[in-house]
Amino acid sequence: MTRLSRRDLLLGGTGVLGAFTLGGLVSAKAQAADHSLTIASLDHSILPETMTKGMMSFATDGPPPVLRLKRGQKTSIDVSNALDEASVVHWHGLRIANAMDGVPYLTQHPIEAGQSFRYEFTPPDAGTFWYHPHCNTLEQMSRGLTGMMIVEEDEDPGFDEDLPLNIRDFRLGGDGQFIAFYKARNAARGGTLGTVSTVNWKVAPTFDFAAGSLVRLRLAVTDITRVGTYEITGGEAQVIAIDSNPLPRPVPAKDLILSPGQRADIALRVPDREEEAVTLRLKRRNGDRDLATFRPRGQSLRRELRELKPLKPNPVPEADLANAEVMEFVFGWSPEGDAPQPSICGTLGYTFWSINRKAWPGDLPGPFDPLATLKLGKSYILRLRNESPNAHPIHLHGVSFRLLQSNKRKLPPLVTDTALLLEEETLDVALVADNPGDWAFHCHVIEHQKTGLTGFLRIEA
Ligand code: C2O
Ligand code: CU
Ligand code: CU
Repeated sequence: MTRLSRRDLLLGGTGVLGAFTLGGLVSAKAQAADHSLTIASLDHSILPETMTKGMMSFATDGPPPVLRLKRGQKTSIDVSNALDEASVVHWHGLRIANAMDGVPYLTQHPIEAGQSFRYEFTPPDAGTFWYHPHCNTLEQMSRGLTGMMIVEEDEDPGFDEDLPLNIRDFRLGGDGQFIAFYKARNAARGGTLGTVSTVNWKVAPTFDFAAGSLVRLRLAVTDITRVGTYEITGGEAQVIAIDSNPLPRPVPAKDLILSPGQRADIALRVPDREEEAVTLRLKRRNGDRDLATFRPRGQSLRRELRELKPLKPNPVPEADLANAEVMEFVFGWSPEGDAPQPSICGTLGYTFWSINRKAWPGDLPGPFDPLATLKLGKSYILRLRNESPNAHPIHLHGVSFRLLQSNKRKLPPLVTDTALLLEEETLDVALVADNPGDWAFHCHVIEHQKTGLTGFLRIEA
């Protein structure tokens, strides 16, 4: 059988194409998705001169591709699963239809080995997002399955360059091969950290930019565990958006705390002179680490940050606080230690955590009860109460929420999908339940997610 790629069809002019009638050509084109991802195993070099075996990617030959979409434009993404186990893909932060959200059993059957699934949706918001599996999540993400997705604004803000930075660790031994993805004793505490920090699957990469140019750095922390403090040293750098939502006023790119699942867009004005390098730095108690270096090259373009057009807020509805119902969620230990049930989406074999004292039973067909049922169109305040001495980046699918107040600190009024809940903190967030369906609600430290700290909210008419 002769197969035509989408490129062949669009470019035309090959011998085979002549055999197609116009009707055949049109229907062949209609069948091709805008994007396609193949989930596959591969060997790839992370450390110099060694191939890490058994990595996983959304491509057969290298790191997960950056998907670029346009706000308000429908897109289709074909995902084929070439692994020998089930998977499923979730689009983190996108407020799309429930059936396209990629959560096993809650929204779709897992994509089994050798099968494929077409996702189709229209992104309502612009910004920096990411995608990852929601099945055997700890192992598949640990092996590399975390990719970035960019939804472009309607109006170009005016950068010279746009650089997605996929920030994550891998747990590799000195020989460059995977070691155990986690330790149970850590899963019951803060989680297990990786051993090798990477950006776009590279250790401390260097990027060259025109001197004096304006660059949009898009940071996405796709790590399974690390809550980090980041800064840009050198150059003029301002945070312009967090978790895909523009800040009302840009702030300097210093002491920027990002937990697993979070993103930050930074406007960088590259220095004028070649010897003035800029770094993306992870600040750590036991020594800071430069994750990436940006080098000015050539004659200065002499651009200025104020030439950038401010980003427009995304159309996230504002909660009606005066009439909002308050719902409390308590994050803590698991009352009883039953192991989660086996599932084709894997289990770590332990239960340590719970929401409202109920531990998630595992990724199973269910049906299970939601943690709460919200009425479509109504406003809610979610009171997130952390009873534990560990921090939890709490993530809700399908709707964005606004940070209101904390019993521990002053909060910026951010709109987000992932909020870092500090140890013993109570955090109020507000939302409008405007997207019907069963929406996963969990900690994004994947060891916590997979050992009980998961549930879902139901939004219904
Ligand atoms: Cu980024 Cu339910 O996940
Ligand atoms: Cu998500
Ligand atoms: Cu957690």
